[in-house]
Amino acid sequence: MGVSEAVAAAHPNIALIKYWGDRDHALRIPANGSISLTLGGLKTQTRVGFDPELKQDRLTINQAPGEATARQRVTEHLDLIRVMAGIQFGAIVDSETDFPIGAGLASSAAAFAALTLAGCAAAGLELGRSELSALARRGSGSAARSIFGGFVELVAGDDDSATFAKPLATAEHWPIVDLIVLTDPMPKPISSTAGHSRAETSPLQAARVSDAPRRLQACREAVLARDFGRLAEVVEQDSDMLHAVMMTSKPALHYWQPGSLAVMAEVRTLRAQGIAACYTVDAGPNVHCLCLPETEPSLRQGLARLPFDLRILRAVPGPGAWLV
Ligand code: PMV
Repeated sequence: MGVSEAVAAAHPNIALIKYWGDRDHALRIPANGSISLTLGGLKTQTRVGFDPELKQDRLTINQAPGEATARQRVTEHLDLIRVMAGIQFGAIVDSETDFPIGAGLASSAAAFAALTLAGCAAAGLELGRSELSALARRGSGSAARSIFGGFVELVAGDDDSATFAKPLATAEHWPIVDLIVLTDPMPKPISSTAGHSRAETSPLQAARVSDAPRRLQACREAVLARDFGRLAEVVEQDSDMLHAVMMTSKPALHYWQPGSLAVMAEVRTLRAQGIAACYTVDAGPNVHCLCLPETEPSLRQGLARLPFDLRILRAVPGPGAWLV
């Protein structure tokens, strides 16, 4: 057998209702369900080539050799695929990402969704989307959601095979715009993988998890009814609850920067003036500002008034991971 290779691409996603903490860390079974929007406009493309000549995997990320932790995570993920496919040799993995990685922009979601799809195709495995999602989840919990497009829910199942994402509404259902304000595009100091294991050290995590079904239901209803006001309320509350848990864990995790707070305050001011906009922040300082196409100009004007040097990326609902 010679080299067998495949190329896949995936968008990252922004969690509207966030996953934080695991019921099972090794299997990455999340403590609570989550809902996200797949972000067309940002992309990771990955080539996987299994080669009988290789004893070890070789990884490049944006044309540079992958660092030890990234290499280990990729190898562990490919091991799952190798076991399923009965492959006993290494692979060449080349990954290209067109947005800042490791900055709380869910680069791992796009990376592991693309790696899972390309890896399975190169290994000759024919898996359905649910199985691909469960497998992507093992690399990064949020990657389970990037297998699908549009609005996506990751259900916190009881075991590995029951914990996968499913579509909630298509990308065409609601043309939400995400202006991602980069307050600090430097790699974050603590990865979300390390962060998840700290969640239980916060006395607020139990309350956040037990209230999750209510937030998930409010979010589902708001998305399906295209009710921006209702979405804004639950999305901001969920984001603030996540950061309350992070800030009160041991050791504490503080991802917000002065620029993040200024952006969040501006978004709240705009909404009080009747402009459809809301914020949400993942495990990093950058702020995702959600709005509607008709309120994007007002949101941009408001952000431009802030006394910070802010870079803005734009995303709109996009498709699930695809083979190139
Ligand atoms: O998939 P991970 O391990 O990078 O965790 C994602 C954590 C958050 O982005 C904060 C929330 C989420 O649901 O995406």
